[in-house]
Amino acid sequence: MKVLMVCLGNICRSPLAEGILKAKLAVQGLEDWEVDSAGTAGWHSGNPADERSIAVAKKYGIDLTDQRSRKFRSTDFDRFDLILVMDSSNFSDVTRLATSEQDREKVKLIMNYASPGMNQNVPDPYYDSDGFEQVYWMLDEACGALLGNIE
Ligand code: 4NP
Repeated sequence: MKVLMVCLGNICRSPLAEGILKAKLAVQGLEDWEVDSAGTAGWHSGNPADERSIAVAKKYGIDLTDQRSRKFRSTDFDRFDLILVMDSSNFSDVTRLATSEQDREKVKLIMNYASPGMNQNVPDPYYDSDGFEQVYWMLDEACGALLGNIE
C-alpha cells in the first residue's frame, strides 16, 4: 500500500500524519508500505517541518526532522494508492488535478477513517500554536482507524 498525506504547506499537518502512520506501521511490522507527504502549495518546498510539528511528534517519540516539504504533483496519482487530505480545501485542490475517476477515487478526507461520512477537517494549526496537540491526536486516531480498516 502506498499512501500520500496532503495538506496546504506540507510543514504542519501532513508531515505529522506521515510520521504517525510510519510509526504505527513500524510497530506492526508493516514496513513494505510506502508513506510520503506533500502540500498543494509549494511555498515551503525544501524546508523542514514546522518546529511545532517536530516538537509535538518528538513528545510522542516520533522524529520528523528528516522530512522536507514538497509540492503535490499530478504524477502522484500514478505513484500512490491512497491520497489522504486534511481538509475540504485540500480535497478540491487535489481532485481538480485528477484526470480520471480512478484517480479521483484515491482522494479521501483522512478523518473519514475515524468518523465515517462526517467529512471532518483537520484544522490548520499554522496560526494557532495551541492547535498542534489536537491535530496530533486527530491524526493518531485517523491513522489507527486506517490500519484497522485496511487489515
Ligand atoms: P499545513 O499548514 O498545511 O498543515 O502545512 C500550513 C503551513 C503553512 C501555511 C499555511 C498552512 N502558510 O500560509 O504558509
